Amino acid sequence: MHLRSVIFFLSVVTSVFGYNILFMGPFPAPSHWMWLESFVDGLLERGHHVTVVSNHKRKIQHENCTELIIDPPYDIPKYLPKSDIFKMRYASDFQNLQMWWNIGVNTTEHALNHPKVKSLIQMKTSPFDCLIMEQFFHESMLMFGHKFNIPVITAGTMGYADYMDHAMGLLTPLSHIPHLLLPYKDDMTFKQRAYNFYLSVYDNFWRRFHYFPLMQSQAEKHFANYIEGPLPLVRDLEKKVSLMLINSHRSIDIPRPTIAGLVNVGGIHIKPAKPLPSDIRDFINGAEHGVVYFSLGSYMKSTDMPKDKIKMLMDGFSRLKQRVIWKYEDENIKNLPKNVLVKKWMPQNDILAQKNVVLFMTHGGLFGSQEGIFWGKPMLCIPLYGDQHRNTIKAVQEGYALSAVLSQLTSDVLVEKINEVISNKRFSQKAKELSLRFRDNPISPKDEAMYWIEYIIRHKGAKHLKSKAVDMSLWEYLQLDIVFLYGGLALLGLYVSLKVLYRLVFWVYVKHNENSNFDKKVQ
Ligand SMILES: *[C@@H]1O[C@H](CO)[C@@H](O)[C@H](O)[C@H]1NC(C)=O
Ligand SMILES: *[C@@H]1O[C@H](CO)[C@@H](O)[C@H](O)[C@H]1NC(C)=O
Repeated sequence: MHLRSVIFFLSVVTSVFGYNILFMGPFPAPSHWMWLESFVDGLLERGHHVTVVSNHKRKIQHENCTELIIDPPYDIPKYLPKSDIFKMRYASDFQNLQMWWNIGVNTTEHALNHPKVKSLIQMKTSPFDCLIMEQFFHESMLMFGHKFNIPVITAGTMGYADYMDHAMGLLTPLSHIPHLLLPYKDDMTFKQRAYNFYLSVYDNFWRRFHYFPLMQSQAEKHFANYIEGPLPLVRDLEKKVSLMLINSHRSIDIPRPTIAGLVNVGGIHIKPAKPLPSDIRDFINGAEHGVVYFSLGSYMKSTDMPKDKIKMLMDGFSRLKQRVIWKYEDENIKNLPKNVLVKKWMPQNDILAQKNVVLFMTHGGLFGSQEGIFWGKPMLCIPLYGDQHRNTIKAVQEGYALSAVLSQLTSDVLVEKINEVISNKRFSQKAKELSLRFRDNPISPKDEAMYWIEYIIRHKGAKHLKSKAVDMSLWEYLQLDIVFLYGGLALLGLYVSLKVLYRLVFWVYVKHNENSNFDKKVQ
């Protein structure tokens, strides 16, 4: 109760003053923005003024929100064709890393070239109290924090990455913390640990020597004319980030060593359920055997799927007892089975909140999976790209989901898997268990995020949340110098003792010989 009253008091205080916050979400994927928008909403609710750089206009204008919309957004599908994704072109973990870096450099460049963002770069004075930005391969934008001389907070949309630890002064223990691309748990086998070590070191090395130089030259190109003096290294700016708000939750993610400046706010985007539009509500309530909800998320469209896959899905759905709600972007689709409702946009959270929804068929995206977990729904995961494979493997391991591979899926297998997840009670029981765990918070993730953002501003960047280890060399951090010191001393000690021992033995031996010679002579 104490914390709550403090927060209530703060919300009263700040609504009088209201901070001026610069908020940047330059990555164009709608799902990322859906998560980040929860922060903007929270800040506005508390009376702050927010200047937002994003690709997505607010549905409802707000008097305290100034929007700088990157329009047109960077065209990701032009460079990463969606057809490749549906065909499941194989990408190794190493290719995935390269892809993230490329896409990060490109989307950041696109944003920095936009006139509205340029006008921010050209501002002479700083009206802002704090910069909040997505931590997703946009590090050159940390230069805004330097330019305006304000504390920087990042929001880790996709959960933890090792470099977040490093930026806070913590070396990720690779023995039990798998790389963010890997589906391993904290009990890796020897082989898994070996691969995890290799991938993590590879990531670290190329990030430092390939990716960061790109970010540095990008920052120089866009900021050099508008900042006095030499620009700092982007790499050093990352080490100055005050706070990282991370999409992770203790109930579903691997426990990891942490530090005060890393705060978990997983679940922040999940809102209380709102009433459904009447057609969806009636469709759900009229389903005698429950409802299957199917969506491939906001980026991949079901309409982009190959035709034979769409036919296969419809065939499978038509053989179910359940009704099916399908986020399908062409509402005029032909030959739709009677038990299927399609709509191009679905209030997903409100649908998942319904008791009568018995299965969530999903691509295994992080945000949707968290919603499914929150509402306790067993899942059938059909991962397509990125972290979806990893999320799916984890969901199956946890026991609340089955998985399917779209490129190999037949309608028979689809029906079989759907029936298995719905009829076998172990899936729904596990889902309910996880839901209880996921909801069990001392304070809501949103309130927690707001508390820490205001804390950082109140305490001018709150340097005390970060370990000084951030400036240590790896050599010092691992105490290798000390190991060498004591190791050296031990060796020296050993050497000296051996030397002494040798002398002693030699001396005794010589004495003995002398004595025996002496004895011989006497005889
Ligand atoms: C906008 O900010 C002012 C001052 O911070 C506050 O008094 C007002 O209530 C805010 N408006 C809304 C709609 O929240
Ligand atoms: C990034 O941009 C370059 C050229 O500007 C292009 O060749 C490349 O395919 C783009 N990569 C991604 C992942 O968007």
